[in-house]
Amino acid sequence: MNYFEKRYNEKSVDKKKVKHDFWRYSHNLGKKIDDFEVDYIFNNIKNILKSRTNIKKIKLLDFGCGTGYHSIQLFKKLDSETSLEEIKVLGIDRNKNYVQQFIYNIKNDYNFFKKEKHFQVKQGTINIVEKLLLKDCKDDQSINIVILIGVIQYLSYKEIKRLGKFLGNLNLNDTYIIIKHPLSYGNTIIKEETREGVLYNSVYKNFEDVYHPLADHFNFIKMEKCYLGKKLTSKEKLEISPNKDTCLVYIHLKNK
Ligand SMILES: C[S@@+](CC[C@H](N)C(=O)[O-])C[C@H]1O[C@@H](n2cnc3c(N)ncnc32)[C@H](O)[C@@H]1O
Repeated sequence: MNYFEKRYNEKSVDKKKVKHDFWRYSHNLGKKIDDFEVDYIFNNIKNILKSRTNIKKIKLLDFGCGTGYHSIQLFKKLDSETSLEEIKVLGIDRNKNYVQQFIYNIKNDYNFFKKEKHFQVKQGTINIVEKLLLKDCKDDQSINIVILIGVIQYLSYKEIKRLGKFLGNLNLNDTYIIIKHPLSYGNTIIKEETREGVLYNSVYKNFEDVYHPLADHFNFIKMEKCYLGKKLTSKEKLEISPNKDTCLVYIHLKNK
C-alpha cells in the first residue's frame, strides 16, 4: 500500500463526499491540472481519429485509474464531440476503495447514469487487463487507447514488461499508450517529499526505465512536456514539479 492509498483508507469522512484525491495537489489546482490532462489526451485522440478516418470504436483502458476523473471526462468528451459509434472504458486499479468511488462517481454523475454500461471498472492489476482484453477480437474499425496517468512509478520493470508484452502480443487492434510521468533527467531517483503535511517517497524514473520494458512491443512516437502553454502561477508550477532535475512529461507509444 503506498502513501496515497494509506491516506485514502485512513480518511474518516464519508468517501462519497470526497471532492478530490490526495494525489491531486490542493482541490483547485488538482482539478485544473486534471482538466489540462483530459484536454491534452482528448486532443491527441482527436488527432489520431483525423488520421484514421475508418475508426468508429474506441476502447479506453485507464490503468491505475484511481477514482476515474480522467476516464469519465474523456468519455463525456468523446461521446459528445466525436462521431464515434462505440466508446468503452475499462478502468483498473488495485485499490478497492478507489474502484468503489469510481463506480459511485459514474452512477451519480448528473444525467450520466444511462452511460453506465459503457464502463467496466475492476479492482486488480495486470492480470485483470489480461482477462478482460482477451475477450476482444481484432476489428479494423477499432483502436485501443491506454492511459497510464501517474502510475508507472508504482510498477516494477517486470510488471511494465508484462503489461507491454500482453498489450503488444495479442491480436489486438492498434494500441496507443499515453504515459504521464515526472521523468528524471539523470538516473531514476527516489525522493522524500511532503504533500499535505505528510512525508512520502516519490519515484522519478528516467526515460530508459519507463520505455525499455515496453520497447519490444511498442514504438516511441513522441514526448511532450506537460501543461505547455497553460496558465499556471509560479507557486502552482513549484507545487506540481518541485525538482529541477525532473520534468512532467507525456510519453506516447504505439504498438509495433
Ligand atoms: C497517483 S494515483 C493516479 C490515479 C489516476 N490515474 C489519476 O491520475 O487520477 C496512482 C494510482 O495507481 C494505482 N496503482 C498503483 N499500483 C498499481 C498496480 N500495480 N496495479 C493497478 N493500480 C495500481 C493506485 O492505487 C492509484 O490509484
